[in-house]
Amino acid sequence: MNKRIAKFLADNQPETPCLVVDLDVVAQAYKLLRRYMPLAKIFYAVKANPAPEVVALLRDLESNFDVASRNEIDLCLERGVAPERISFGNTIKKERDIAYAFGCGVTLYAFDSQAELEKLARAENSGQSRHTASSPAAASAISPRARPTPSAEAAREPTMSQRSDRPSVSAATRWVSS
Ligand SMILES: Cc1ncc(COP(=O)(O)O)c(C=O)c1O
Repeated sequence: MNKRIAKFLADNQPETPCLVVDLDVVAQAYKLLRRYMPLAKIFYAVKANPAPEVVALLRDLESNFDVASRNEIDLCLERGVAPERISFGNTIKKERDIAYAFGCGVTLYAFDSQAELEKLARAENSGQSRHTASSPAAASAISPRARPTPSAEAAREPTMSQRSDRPSVSAATRWVSS
């Protein structure tokens, strides 16, 4: 516990259990990640702490956001996060939530099973979305040539490779810290 939190608890004596977060610590952690992982595009997992103050802070620090539900999409958008900075990830997404995300302009989706990929492909009527495999296994499920390599190239550029027996999507690998 840092001094500021200790003082806050002493001054306010909040009912327990409670969670007290020092936003400066969050900012510092984000900046450290940026410094030591300069090639990574960082997506903050909103589920880790969906406090609007945390989202606003990370928005201002130019973070990207990993959301797992419609509520988290709304929270980010209401706080002024552009949909291009949002990735919709969740092991099992509701089809109506995928449609909602598309409608909001979210075009990046993380998945790691064929069933999820098929849901995304169904929602992809306009062909505007880009899907992101969340693991090497998921990437190779889409395309055997889409296996990730931990290179800057792989972090920046999606691998555009398709198989005729798979849903028609492109595979990319993301390197996410949260
Ligand atoms: C598609 C997908 N798979 C798996 C996970 C779980 O990830 P982890 O094992 O890192 O908690 C998530 C969490 O966001 C996810 O979006």
